[in-house]
Amino acid sequence: MDDPDKSLEDIVDLLRQEIEATELNSEEEAEAFRIRFLGQRNGRITQLFKRIPTLPKGKRREAGLLLNRLRAQANAHLEAARNSVTSTAPSACTLDLTLPGRRSQWVGSRHPITQALAGITDIFQRMGFTIAEGPEIEDDWHNFTALNFPPEHPARDMQDTLFVQASNQGEDGVMLRTHTSPVQIRAMLASSPPFRLIAPGRVYRNEAITFKSYCLFHQVEGLVVDEGITMADLKHALFSFAYAFFGNDVRLRFRPSFFPFTEPSAELDVWWELPDDPDGGRWMEVLGSGMVHPNVLKAVGIDSERYTGYAFGLGVERPAMLRYGIDDIRIFYENDIRFLAQF
Ligand code: PHE
Repeated sequence: MDDPDKSLEDIVDLLRQEIEATELNSEEEAEAFRIRFLGQRNGRITQLFKRIPTLPKGKRREAGLLLNRLRAQANAHLEAARNSVTSTAPSACTLDLTLPGRRSQWVGSRHPITQALAGITDIFQRMGFTIAEGPEIEDDWHNFTALNFPPEHPARDMQDTLFVQASNQGEDGVMLRTHTSPVQIRAMLASSPPFRLIAPGRVYRNEAITFKSYCLFHQVEGLVVDEGITMADLKHALFSFAYAFFGNDVRLRFRPSFFPFTEPSAELDVWWELPDDPDGGRWMEVLGSGMVHPNVLKAVGIDSERYTGYAFGLGVERPAMLRYGIDDIRIFYENDIRFLAQF
């Protein structure tokens, strides 16, 4: 307790010096300082505040200002001490030395679709196929007409089209390509037989979105045109690919189908093992194929008496699902880092 007879100014002066002179080198010293000067009940500054009501009215305001300044000084002294104490010597219990280190660099990986595409193109390149490309925005002629889709033919509805520019008469539309088959047309117009090429790329369809269909997906088109090409060559190429991509024990089904630009046409199904399924799995269609229709060869000015060929259009998402055990196509397009980080 400070001497009640001393003037407030004198006491404050003494306390100022005392505060300045008190060194605080640890948490404990800082806490003792806080209790001694600022403690709720017996802190020396707190006690001085209690004197204010006993002063003559005219002096109270001035005394309040003086004490506020003193209290601020004590707080600042305490604060400065605490900062330097914690920054130079963190207390041992906040530091967990058993935590794993933080990675300073994250290694990215390629998207599973990109990896599947690379795997597919690699296999076909080893089989002697070269790579061709075409635009994702196509016109009606390349996407449909040259591929032997007659105008107004219901086959155009097989592939619900996303139009960039709607068509009036059915032949002047501009669209997001619904398949990679227009690249067959562009490649055949650009050069002459023999052809042995694949065309990987994105395709778009206005489809109901489900676990196995999405509005955007990838295909790898294949085209082989030469003298004497037969359906046996087609089947050999497709089965060789399937064994290389899925493994030698894969179950395959090659069954008849229809496409306007191939005749005859066939689809390839791969058995999708599903342990929880009552049948133990299901057939998954992975590609359409067939012998190039003579009308397609005619549309690009190739002699269909001399040359024959085969074509196929392989989906990329479904083989990737089979290969990586993914049961929903939509997850490829959600950019969920928890999914992507697994590849
Ligand atoms: N373009 C067909 C589709 O997208 C697939 C296909 C390509 C079929 C080449 C035959 C020949 O469904």
